Amino acid sequence: MITHTALIAGATGAIGSALARQLGPQSQWKVYGISRHPPPDPIEGVQYLKMDMTDRRDCEVVLSDHSGITHVFYCGRATHGEQMLESAEDNLRLLDNLIHGVESSEHNLQHIHLVQGGKYYGVHIGPFPSPAKEEDSRAPIPNFNYAQQDYLQERSSQSSWSWSASRPNTLIHYSPSIPRNLVSSLGTYAAICRELGAALDFPGPVGAFHSLTQLTSIDLLARGIDWMSTQQNCANQAFNMTNTDLIRWQSLWPKIADAFEMPCGDVRPMQLTTTMTDRKELWSSICAKYQLQNLPLSSVANWGYLDATFERYWDEVFSHIKARKFGFHDWDDSEEKLLGILRRYQHDRILPY
Ligand SMILES: NC(=O)c1ccc[n+]([C@@H]2O[C@H](COP(=O)([O-])OP(=O)(O)OC[C@H]3O[C@@H](n4cnc5c(N)ncnc54)[C@H](OP(=O)(O)O)[C@@H]3O)[C@@H](O)[C@H]2O)c1
Repeated sequence: MITHTALIAGATGAIGSALARQLGPQSQWKVYGISRHPPPDPIEGVQYLKMDMTDRRDCEVVLSDHSGITHVFYCGRATHGEQMLESAEDNLRLLDNLIHGVESSEHNLQHIHLVQGGKYYGVHIGPFPSPAKEEDSRAPIPNFNYAQQDYLQERSSQSSWSWSASRPNTLIHYSPSIPRNLVSSLGTYAAICRELGAALDFPGPVGAFHSLTQLTSIDLLARGIDWMSTQQNCANQAFNMTNTDLIRWQSLWPKIADAFEMPCGDVRPMQLTTTMTDRKELWSSICAKYQLQNLPLSSVANWGYLDATFERYWDEVFSHIKARKFGFHDWDDSEEKLLGILRRYQHDRILPY
């Protein structure tokens, strides 16, 4: 029996689509998913609505036709470049237009969930106190995570709905239509190096090879969002969401090289945005040689994202104690999951064996 109606904003994105797959098949959820462009494939149990959150009027009109929304899951993200601060103003405007649209119509809003991330702790800026705890003081930087959380806290205090926020770190997921993807970008890098006769060198600085980091499996994050958005005791709280284990690229690197049957190299800092962008023809020839699906290089790899991930020479460790105390005990094996996703890209002939 349907007891909740979800509106997933950004339902075609990395996190939004994972959440749609989590909620869609559950009988207690009716699920709407919105974005500007339709999803590549329908998702079970999800009704897709085309809507542009930059357009306040569009949000009013589209949402006036669909009543009864109880839960909003904000997984949107304003258009942005890599290795630069994302605009707080643009991101806040999207959220505000969406909430305005929901509140302008006859809905039964109970909860708004906001997806944040390691950026809350300034993971993209430099070393930060770790393990990072949810109540740590903020980094002195402009940050859309802060602007959006402050907005929800203030609006919630004058409304009957509550809010929650999830903070994943670097995501791992199988998403062939999303190039901003650690696993497919890394696998593409490895395949190109192998074809050039090179070993698998680590392209970041020495510190990044040895530092401790945490990953977040996207299906674990989706389960965590489902949990915190439906538990009374999680109202008005933020929770770190990582796999809870720790990795060092140093330990994983030989196993990634093994997956491509290539020699493991050394630390060799380089900007992939410079060394890899001109590899379209080589990638096409790899696709032909290994009879791959022939997806364009720009669909499988985002070099700026990989540079930004591998340049961090500092530890990225988030405490998971708060989620445990509140009742979430899920975890994942980051190494096993990452290698499993890599093999799936190979199996599906997106990356070569
Ligand atoms: N990806 C990561 O590795 C990662 C890690 C930790 C935290 N996070 C956080 O998670 C949140 C979501 O990130 P993500 O990477 O999942 O985002 P994403 O893959 O870039 O997806 C963004 C979604 O928002 C939609 N969207 C963008 N502009 C829109 C608009 N004007 N109107 C309607 N829909 C719009 C997009 O669809 P259309 O373009 O079709 O509209 C897409 O569905 C962000 O706050 C991010 O910082 C991400």
